[in-house]
Amino acid sequence: MAGLLGSLLLLVLQTFAAPPDFVPAGDLDPEGLQWANGTAGPSLAPPPGTSQRVPHSIIIGVRKGGTRALLEMLDIHPSVAAAATEVHFFDWDENYSRGFDWYRGLMPYSYPHQITVEKTPGYFTSAQAPERIRAMNASIKLLLILRDPAERVVSDYTQVYFNRLEARKPVRPIEDLLVRGGALNTRYKAIQRSLYHLHMRNWLRYFPLEQIHLVDGDTLVRDPLPELRRVERFLELPPRIAASNFYFNQTKGFYCIRSDGRERCLHESKGRPHPPVNGTVLRQLRAYFRPHNRSFYRMVGRTFHWH
Ligand SMILES: *[C@@H]1O[C@H](CO)[C@@H](O)[C@H](O)[C@H]1NC(C)=O
Ligand SMILES: *[C@@H]1O[C@H](CO)[C@@H](O)[C@H](O)[C@H]1NC(C)=O
Ligand SMILES: *[C@@H]1O[C@H](CO)[C@@H](O)[C@H](O)[C@H]1NC(C)=O
Ligand SMILES: *[C@@H]1O[C@H](CO)[C@@H](O)[C@H](O)[C@H]1NC(C)=O
Ligand SMILES: *[C@@H]1O[C@H](CO)[C@@H](O)[C@H](O)[C@H]1NC(C)=O
Ligand SMILES: *[C@@H]1O[C@H](CO)[C@@H](O)[C@H](O)[C@H]1NC(C)=O
Repeated sequence: MAGLLGSLLLLVLQTFAAPPDFVPAGDLDPEGLQWANGTAGPSLAPPPGTSQRVPHSIIIGVRKGGTRALLEMLDIHPSVAAAATEVHFFDWDENYSRGFDWYRGLMPYSYPHQITVEKTPGYFTSAQAPERIRAMNASIKLLLILRDPAERVVSDYTQVYFNRLEARKPVRPIEDLLVRGGALNTRYKAIQRSLYHLHMRNWLRYFPLEQIHLVDGDTLVRDPLPELRRVERFLELPPRIAASNFYFNQTKGFYCIRSDGRERCLHESKGRPHPPVNGTVLRQLRAYFRPHNRSFYRMVGRTFHWH
């Protein structure tokens, strides 16, 4: 099933890469991330010589594109300090209105040689985020991880589907959302979020393309190292992430991370297979995206092998 490989990306890791003392106590990732044992770990005093700093780089999206996997893999790098939670600072007015000091207070403690990285997938589709991020740091480096837009729609649906099941709310088959009156329901939010060129156009009004590094999410899960090498170069970090930091877990069917003597895998809940989708509807969906991804390829000067 086409969805299966794609769905492997959407994964949350069971544990954070950051040592427990770097984790703001009591915070939970909106994606459902938490410590393997369900606690936030002890909150110790920050190590001497560290401070909290606003991000030098932000993973801006896309939702279900593999942002968690990318952040966790990047966090292997000794010069990276990754924020533990999705902050939603630039896309949610209530948070943005609290100001940059509040934002900084949510960042991990880091050493001067380290760069702070935050990820909030909602930024990519937010109308205000680009302008607000530029107001903070016009030369910030942005990371955008993408997947096949049709696969992304199905993953987006799958996440909502399971969240609703867990909350004991009624669920609808994906076809009910994708089809309205016999035609593709292009107003469905998950479809809107996959129109990458529309969102990208907004970012390019505020940042040059060279400041937005694109990561191929489908490649990242299949073969993480080459994509991470490119990210290291973009962030001007010495290459420190190595093949030995990854091992393939046959049972799970994807890579797990080994670093600092700890092993961790992407969270079960995110490795779920997609529900089957009516083939006719899926073909309609793919056909709909064809001209849109061509626009996107032109805009970014790069082709992705979305099939
Ligand atoms: C949970 O894990 C954290 C971090 O590894 C550890 O410090 C804490 O003691 C654990 N809590 C329990 C209840 O096992
Ligand atoms: C951002 O605002 C939302 C909505 O008010 C809130 O639920 C969320 O917890 C805020 N984020 C943080 C990190 O406090
Ligand atoms: C802005 O971002 C760039 C790129 O990461 C970084 O070199 C610079 O120090 C940042 N400026 C501030 C004020 O944080
Ligand atoms: C591989 O994945 C399985 C299934 O989730 C898990 O039980 C096991 O601990 C993992 N093994 C390693 C070495 O990570
Ligand atoms: C799939 O969807 C098409 C168009 O909406 C419909 O005609 C067809 O009966 C559906 N097939 C199945 C197996 O449900
Ligand atoms: C664009 O994406 C759709 C949906 O994933 C795919 O079916 C189509 O072949 C792609 N088109 C191009 C030109 O890459």
